[in-house]
Amino acid sequence: MKKINIAVVGLGFGISFARIYCSHPDVGEVTIYDTCVEYSNKLAEELRNVKIANSFEDILNDPTIDAVHIVTPIPMHAEQSIAVLNAGKHCACAVPMATSLEDIRRIVAAKRKSGKNYMMMETTLYSYQFFYISEMIQDGRLGKIQFLRGSHYQNMEGWPGYWMGLPPMWYGTHAIGPMVALSGSRICRVNCFGSGTMAEDLVRQYGNPYPIESALFEFENGLKGEATRSLFETTRAYQEGLFVYGSNSSFEWAISDSWDPYVSTSYIPEGSTRARIKCEQVQMPHYYHILPEELWRFDKSGHHGSHPHLVHEFVRSCVEERKPRIDEILAGNITAAGICAHESAMRNGEAVIVPEF
Ligand SMILES: NC(=O)c1ccc[n+]([C@@H]2O[C@H](COP(=O)([O-])OP(=O)(O)OC[C@H]3O[C@@H](n4cnc5c(N)ncnc54)[C@H](O)[C@@H]3O)[C@@H](O)[C@H]2O)c1
Repeated sequence: MKKINIAVVGLGFGISFARIYCSHPDVGEVTIYDTCVEYSNKLAEELRNVKIANSFEDILNDPTIDAVHIVTPIPMHAEQSIAVLNAGKHCACAVPMATSLEDIRRIVAAKRKSGKNYMMMETTLYSYQFFYISEMIQDGRLGKIQFLRGSHYQNMEGWPGYWMGLPPMWYGTHAIGPMVALSGSRICRVNCFGSGTMAEDLVRQYGNPYPIESALFEFENGLKGEATRSLFETTRAYQEGLFVYGSNSSFEWAISDSWDPYVSTSYIPEGSTRARIKCEQVQMPHYYHILPEELWRFDKSGHHGSHPHLVHEFVRSCVEERKPRIDEILAGNITAAGICAHESAMRNGEAVIVPEF
């Protein structure tokens, strides 16, 4: 069976993924690279069986490397993804895919020209909570989906400079992604408002005046969804929330990331004709059993068990020469919906059409 040689670029958040690639049974050599040489050296000491690249260009020019996972700062995602695809290698990239519609188009064009895989590594599409709600939909417990909601509350004070003042919906993928994936459709239109005010120095970098944005999305199949995203000067427990309202039951992952979701189920008590609602908090099962045994120990590695699933999906899509689940079309819709939402907020809530890729 063919093995994939992979490079991980950016060793902050990227460290977690480099460790998992090293244990994946379908991965051959793992190369690591960070502009900070100390990060690479430290990780190489821990993992021992990795190679250290001297530059990003060395990775692009190395014919033995099949695939590159980019985990660098947001402003680099588009150019580095295009460079990887143009070098004839499969590309995985941390969210968001890009911060402009034009860059999404350029990535999609590079992907199609190269014939290689592109995958956006959206953690919320492989969390325990996402697996659980997907099962509820598939086995009919939820009934018809009637409405979707997503949220992502985070305070980025003190993070690296490129974050400062970032339009909240440019990084709306954790709130928007699950809604799109569960809808079985694509977002085609958005109305969004920004709210609140921020310090002048936060407004300057991206010309974004809003610490928090809230959007209503229309899906092509008629469904609607809402997402709220905060990044600055808004105090709330960290949360990447997911809410799915169905005809039989509903799933609400509210309050905070460390709380289990609530499932409400409607029923008609014996001797009555009126519907009642039973609401219970449900402990999330783990889904490591669908992974190769070598990855089971990474089930608690972060973002609700998602990291080894993302690695496995990307690697298997390369080995099997098929599209990954979060391909350029799904990634493009999730990311573009956020970019268009911010555009709508800047036009005081005017509707913005989300282009198709
Ligand atoms: N849940 C999620 O999906 C999730 C969570 C955290 C971060 N992220 C994304 O992952 C990315 C990385 O996050 P982070 O917190 O590690 O960011 P960071 O800015 O702290 O670190 C990125 C790393 O990249 C390195 N780097 C910078 N420029 C580079 C270059 N040209 N080539 C190689 N390395 C370079 C830096 O030295 C640093 O070690 C971000 O884009 C972020 O949006 C996603």
